[in-house]
Amino acid sequence: MKLEAFAEPGSEEAVLLESIDAGKLPRHIAVIMDGNGRWAGLRKLPRVAGHRTGIDSVRNIVESCRKLGIESLTLYAFSTENWKRPRLEVRTLMRLLKEFIRKEMRSVNENNIRFLAIGRIHELDESVREELRRFSELTARNTGMTLSVARNYSGRAEITDAVNRILSECRAGGPVIVTEDIISGSLYTAGLPDPDLLIRTSGEMRISNFLLWQIAYSEIYVTPTLWPDFRRKHLLEAIAAYQLRDRRYGGI
Ligand code: FPP
Repeated sequence: MKLEAFAEPGSEEAVLLESIDAGKLPRHIAVIMDGNGRWAGLRKLPRVAGHRTGIDSVRNIVESCRKLGIESLTLYAFSTENWKRPRLEVRTLMRLLKEFIRKEMRSVNENNIRFLAIGRIHELDESVREELRRFSELTARNTGMTLSVARNYSGRAEITDAVNRILSECRAGGPVIVTEDIISGSLYTAGLPDPDLLIRTSGEMRISNFLLWQIAYSEIYVTPTLWPDFRRKHLLEAIAAYQLRDRRYGGI
């Protein structure tokens, strides 16, 4: 693996990088970014301070994945269940996304990254939808990496939407036999490879309604590190652990 512009020679990251096989990188990494509230609580800060620092982790991980040559990165940023949180927190999470887009749009585009918003986007505020639309349109033809951000997302809602889409295509004279490929192609993630590696931060052993169809054979990596502390070194540790797994897909 080329170390230039990525890790200081002799640093912990450089050593980790040496242990990673560039030929066996996960094509798609999905992340459940958890622990922002706990991170803030440990510092006696309001929960939103955790989300704010979580944005620094987002930036660091997007940049690291791009430099490593990861094809697809999907981040779980707001679930359909997260509306139950206090109004201030929900408002802050929406504002942070808009801020992130405004600040990072140029650099994401210059780095040839395609941005994709997945979830029930049509239910979000017009101002958020507008930012998401601008970002997606600007980067639509980029080929270096796909960054998908799951917003108002749940795996069950995604499958339900896919079934309804297939049903309306059937009614319009489409195929009557449904195959796995038809289902995959009707999800928000149509065209993306399934995640090879699913990372969850902050130690919880749950899937939390994330990419239920797509993670059938994903390798799951749970780290106690809280999302605002999760940076490139932790990503490299996750990839190194992934490369030690024996992926059998049900075979022997
Ligand atoms: C979970 O931590 C995190 C979230 C619900 C939101 C994550 C959002 C960001 C990092 C910012 C926006 C993202 C982008 C892509 C711009 P939690 O609040 O559930 O933490 P806890 O379990 O410790 O309470």
